[in-house]
Amino acid sequence: MIWTREKRYQPYSAYSEADKETLAEQVSSSVYKPAFHIHPTSGLLNDPNGFSYFNGQWHIFYQAFPFGPVHGLKSWVHCVSDDLVHWHNLGIALNPGNQYDSHGAYSGSAQVINDKLFLMYTGNVRDKNWQRRSYQLGAWMDENNQITKVNQPLITAPDYVTEHFRDPQLLKVNDEYFALIGSQDKQNLRGEFSLYKTQDLKNWEDMGYIKHNLGDMGYMVECPNLVYVDDKPVLIFCPQGLPQNILPTDNIYPNVYTVGSNLDFKTGTWYSDTSTLMQLDAGFDVYASQAFNAPDGQAYLISWVGLPEINYPSDKENWAHCLSLVKRLKVVDNKLYQIPVTAMSTLAVAEQTLPQNQQVLVTDTKQQYELKLDLDSNQTGNLLLASDGTSDNGLQLQFDTNNEGYLIVDRSNVGEKFATKYGETRKVNVNPHKKLSLDIFVDHSICEIFINGGEQVMTLRFFAPQTQTMIAFSEQNTLKYSGSYILLSDM
Ligand code: FRU
Repeated sequence: MIWTREKRYQPYSAYSEADKETLAEQVSSSVYKPAFHIHPTSGLLNDPNGFSYFNGQWHIFYQAFPFGPVHGLKSWVHCVSDDLVHWHNLGIALNPGNQYDSHGAYSGSAQVINDKLFLMYTGNVRDKNWQRRSYQLGAWMDENNQITKVNQPLITAPDYVTEHFRDPQLLKVNDEYFALIGSQDKQNLRGEFSLYKTQDLKNWEDMGYIKHNLGDMGYMVECPNLVYVDDKPVLIFCPQGLPQNILPTDNIYPNVYTVGSNLDFKTGTWYSDTSTLMQLDAGFDVYASQAFNAPDGQAYLISWVGLPEINYPSDKENWAHCLSLVKRLKVVDNKLYQIPVTAMSTLAVAEQTLPQNQQVLVTDTKQQYELKLDLDSNQTGNLLLASDGTSDNGLQLQFDTNNEGYLIVDRSNVGEKFATKYGETRKVNVNPHKKLSLDIFVDHSICEIFINGGEQVMTLRFFAPQTQTMIAFSEQNTLKYSGSYILLSDM
């Protein structure tokens, strides 16, 4: 199929039920289909949207183009969960198509307001010259998950920003609401955080850009999120075209965070002791993460595991991408930790202690498991996930707990190649001469590595033959470690 612009933006009604069933069948029969990660029932998934707790359930929506592995006319698909681990896909909830969202119901967020969930999102509109316009829109979802759009835009773009003005995060601060919006300044074409204020969700005051000391944010800021973690404000966002001297990154676009001391909503000023930006994830494939402060007092994060403008091997099966696990956040010494939620243990089917002095640790992993591995200090080695028993084939985790202190993930020897232009390895530094603790989740074509209690995370896709089921060291093992392998069920 050649995905012309016409095809990508034709109304969903142009596709038949049979088209959709064929696509759904392609996902269900794919060997790459995740077992316990949210993935599209058909076509493409991108950003998580509207992450919230409402009416006794967790809600997450995702950006979807249900008719192919491409970015086309976007809708919101709705998933619900009782425990942040088992998710049920309820299908499309927010459809595009009116005069303010004719070319896509783009990303946004949600807030519980009285007895309803208020969704705030960007309406994407193109005119006949394909000029874009962006509107910030609203919709109410009731306790039966029925959605009614607000019929007028909440915010139209001010004249000092370009058409790149999107991804509102609605925040409640005392008795007022604020919207944090990613924008591009018209004059200098740089990325900014726009801030709006309202009491009634109807009249919105433009507070201008957030004043900050973070430096040049590149040419556009996508998906800004403010979340309070252990009483610290944490700003999470995706700067596009970020200068490498501000944050070196190998990925096409990074997803970053910075820990502040205060966001003053009266003046729209970000205060922080440091202007340091950090990568949210040191792997290959995390973008557009969304976090929120939940009523249980915790802050949770979920990410799109995929990147814009990159082709993935599942594209040829007509589907693309998945979401990450939900991660609980904490801040220690101005560093953001991401920790898998405790309910992940409900997926455990069987657990075995890792054998000592063996090259092969597990022979038949079924490709859906958690691997807990504590490597002693002062050693180097190479652990292969999705190994076929030969010394190199597999997803390589090269570690040094000796003089240098690092973990390198190398996907150059594992299955189908993709995105090689952006490099095939990612590296994090860890403390030399210290134990290295890894909590790894592998789910067919996705791998999430939580390092030293979530101090760093490396998330990636890989597309290996499902016959590569071993966990093994690349050499005869004389290493010192402890750990276990836990087989996980489908969600
Ligand atoms: C980020 C993004 C958002 C936009 C959405 C459209 O991946 O480009 O800025 O709202 O995807 O699907």
